[in-house]
Amino acid sequence: MLPIVIASDHAGFSLKEQVKKHLEEKGIEYIDLGTNSTESVAYPEYASKLCCAIQEGKANMGILVCGTGIGMSMAANKHKGIRAACVSDTFSAKATRMHNDANVLCFGERVVGAGLAFELVDAFLGTEYEGGRHQVRVDMLNSFDK
Ligand code: RB5
Repeated sequence: MLPIVIASDHAGFSLKEQVKKHLEEKGIEYIDLGTNSTESVAYPEYASKLCCAIQEGKANMGILVCGTGIGMSMAANKHKGIRAACVSDTFSAKATRMHNDANVLCFGERVVGAGLAFELVDAFLGTEYEGGRHQVRVDMLNSFDK
């Protein structure tokens, strides 16, 4: 099984570090693509690093953290083959896997606490895509890549 990739900007750095510890406790391998401090950086750069790693086949799934999760999801969804979801509740974290086959989870350090972030990660990584009736819609999403 491939590792997951994780990245943040400065506003998501602290929560990213906490999520990494959570992944370690769960025995889930990850590749940290930065940032590595709270020094100000541009979130699109880190979203792009993570999406490129998925496009290159280094990972199938990713986690992006910024202040809100919104900028990261906007940047990620500009990348071919990426279906990123910005969520702050566990129902949506599961549903976006089941219905949208989301491959990147985004959330905001200024929005969710660490405990909820861990639940979002567990819900997202622990839920399978349902396929079936959803596939035609995911195919439509993917067609916008062209
Ligand atoms: C950084 O201040 C902030 O704009 C960024 O982390 C994110 O929330 C953007 O969507």
